[in-house]
Amino acid sequence: MRLHPPSVVVFSGSSNQPLVQEICNHLGITHGHMDIRRFSDGEIYCRPTMHIRGKEVFVIQSTNGGSDYIIELLIMIDALKRASAEKITVVVPYFGYARQDRKTKSREPITAKLMANIIQTAGATRFMSVDLHAGQIQGFFDIPSDNLTAALLFKNYFLSKHLEQPIIVSPDMGGVERAKVLSRMLHCDIAVCQKNRTETDQVDSMHLIGEVQGKSAILMDDIISTGGTLCKASELLMRKGAKEVFACISHGLFVGNCLEKMNSSVFKEIVVTNSVNHPKELLQTCSKLKILSIAPLIAEAVFRICMNMSLSEVFDDISGPTLFKDHQLPE
Ligand code: R5P
Repeated sequence: MRLHPPSVVVFSGSSNQPLVQEICNHLGITHGHMDIRRFSDGEIYCRPTMHIRGKEVFVIQSTNGGSDYIIELLIMIDALKRASAEKITVVVPYFGYARQDRKTKSREPITAKLMANIIQTAGATRFMSVDLHAGQIQGFFDIPSDNLTAALLFKNYFLSKHLEQPIIVSPDMGGVERAKVLSRMLHCDIAVCQKNRTETDQVDSMHLIGEVQGKSAILMDDIISTGGTLCKASELLMRKGAKEVFACISHGLFVGNCLEKMNSSVFKEIVVTNSVNHPKELLQTCSKLKILSIAPLIAEAVFRICMNMSLSEVFDDISGPTLFKDHQLPE
């Protein structure tokens, strides 16, 4: 894959530089340099150190971990807009604050919409993410927005395991559509856990809808945070007679003692992408963890956007025949 260096520049925020480096390797370019610093009071300073007037720029930043990365992203977009970039595509592999995507009680905020508003106001001309918490969040943006899916990576991974009787399990009602996508790719059934929460971060009770007896259950979720949801679901599946339980999760937040919990869980393997960056030493503490890279997926999308090529023809095709092929831009 080769992008024409003078017209396209990819910038990285601080949240996941290894991923951006990998994406740039796939595209055959070096990333643009952004000077990111802190003032002594903690405020953030960002300035591209190269001229970008009239260029098509991509800013890649996951917005996990509270508010610093989203603020840094907004400041980068503002700097790029004021430096006269022609197009600013904001790539947020993990889009934080997305779980509050509707009011479930009166007087609650809708933070997913708020994040969409501020990203656009800062100057983004296009938005792209991976496995948004809910597909309809795309509609919170009034600029073109794309929601890529890691399901293609999970499909290839689980096909290579040759499981005899796989079944995809969604740990909650909200994840059913996501589970359906993977079940179509693997030509298998789905089951669903019905989850009730008492506190924002605690799962209270869970019931299973579907039959998992003797099957290899693959729990699929968009986020693992404390690990409470997946642990509870995996135990339920084993009680219901599953032969073994795997998990595949798009975004690993690994809050608190999540990885310790995973080590002592019934999971055979926990497959997660690198949309959120963690120190290697932390990831190595969990022997069941398998990390798949979303760099080729994002690189393919960046390439297609630059070339005005269709994204859907690749990403909506559940067999994904043309995915991750090497491309050469015409001179
Ligand atoms: C919730 O709706 C999400 O899809 C995940 O199930 C949730 O964020 C996982 O959180 P935890 O790992 O803390 O149970």
